Amino acid sequence: MKKVRMGMVGGGQGAFIGAIHRIAAMMDGNVELVCGAFSSEKNRSKASGVSLHIPEERCYASYEQMLEVESLLPKDKRMEFVVIVTPNHLHFPIAKMAIEHGFHVLSDKPATFSLSEALVLEAVIKQNNCLYGLTHTYNGYPLIKQAKHLIEKGELGNIVKVVVEYSQGWLASKNDEESKQASWRLDPEKSGASCCMGDIGVHAANLAEYVSGLLITDLCADLTSTVAGRILDDDGTVLLKLSNGAKGVLLASQVSLGDENNLKLRIYGDKKSIEWSQLEPNTLWLKSNIEPTQQIRTGVGEMCQAAQQAIRTPAGHPEGYLEAFANIYQNFTAQIRAHGNKDKCDNALFDVPGIDEAVRGMAFIENVVNASNSNIKWHAFTLNPYPLEQH
Ligand SMILES: NC(=O)c1ccc[n+]([C@@H]2O[C@H](COP(=O)([O-])OP(=O)(O)OC[C@H]3O[C@@H](n4cnc5c(N)ncnc54)[C@H](O)[C@@H]3O)[C@@H](O)[C@H]2O)c1
Repeated sequence: MKKVRMGMVGGGQGAFIGAIHRIAAMMDGNVELVCGAFSSEKNRSKASGVSLHIPEERCYASYEQMLEVESLLPKDKRMEFVVIVTPNHLHFPIAKMAIEHGFHVLSDKPATFSLSEALVLEAVIKQNNCLYGLTHTYNGYPLIKQAKHLIEKGELGNIVKVVVEYSQGWLASKNDEESKQASWRLDPEKSGASCCMGDIGVHAANLAEYVSGLLITDLCADLTSTVAGRILDDDGTVLLKLSNGAKGVLLASQVSLGDENNLKLRIYGDKKSIEWSQLEPNTLWLKSNIEPTQQIRTGVGEMCQAAQQAIRTPAGHPEGYLEAFANIYQNFTAQIRAHGNKDKCDNALFDVPGIDEAVRGMAFIENVVNASNSNIKWHAFTLNPYPLEQH
């Protein structure tokens, strides 16, 4: 089987997530990075690509040039999919142009700058025969797959409460605003309607829906710009109502001093509950009031097929963030290989967040911002964009 040919937009020298994507993409030997437009500045793009051993003629000056030129190359040479790892405001134009040129797209989150863009992208995908994936990384953990499986088979009973938290401390002070990563995230022209909710709240919302199998139907939100002078939120709390009537709490913060990528999920059913933390990703707790608490460990005992295929090392050799990311690539490349030949890939097993999750994620961000600007307590979750209310 040949490697799947990948192009990258963003991820040049000094960037954060592009390098993580490259490690994840290469982990299973399925992917070859063949080209890129790694920076908005052409010399930096070239230098970045050359340092990755990409032929100079395929280190492009812009994503437009890359998509045009690659689409004219022979079919067995041109890239097959593009990964988008730029600041948020560029996700939509790159994804749209790539799909219109016949390339599959794997985009980082949030999917677009606004919900309206996500809805246009959804229509573009429907009109073209291309795959679209979104890197909600945390779905890739084996024990997240196992937790989803336990809930699907009714082990927890009826879900009554979902608590999801994602707290970081890296934007806790004014001094933290100087990095390249902070400056665009805090800029509404590049980040979108929200900083904290758009950056990490959207991951938490996706994880809660993915594992519980429930959808957010209503919300009540309170966003804060803790550090003086910020236009966008750096902290927020959202109360949730879910599609089975359960209640939830979503907490996201970038000003929680000392917190790392402290993502935690607790789901309570009327029979049992689960608890998982990214800081200990190879442990899942299964609890009840009757039986002793059970510690489920990655690779120990029999797991569901989706969890099993997400594990690479024997139990006790820790797997983490990079492997979770690689699992998204593994599934997406399986989908690409099976494209046009659906029998060969079970999309439920090789699942990748897609355009539905993209639209819901953008709706989540805008619904939260709107609700936070309002004095009304509960707001029905809508997939229709509306003008964001002002204070
Ligand atoms: N899935 C995750 O867990 C995760 C984690 C971090 C970031 N992200 C997302 O990844 C994206 C990038 O975040 P980051 O922290 O790596 O940002 P970054 O600022 O470190 O990197 C952005 C890169 O995009 C490049 N770029 C900007 N404009 C460009 C253009 N016109 N053409 C080509 N390249 C261009 C920059 O030069 C830089 O290399 C964001 O959308 C962010 O939300 C996702």
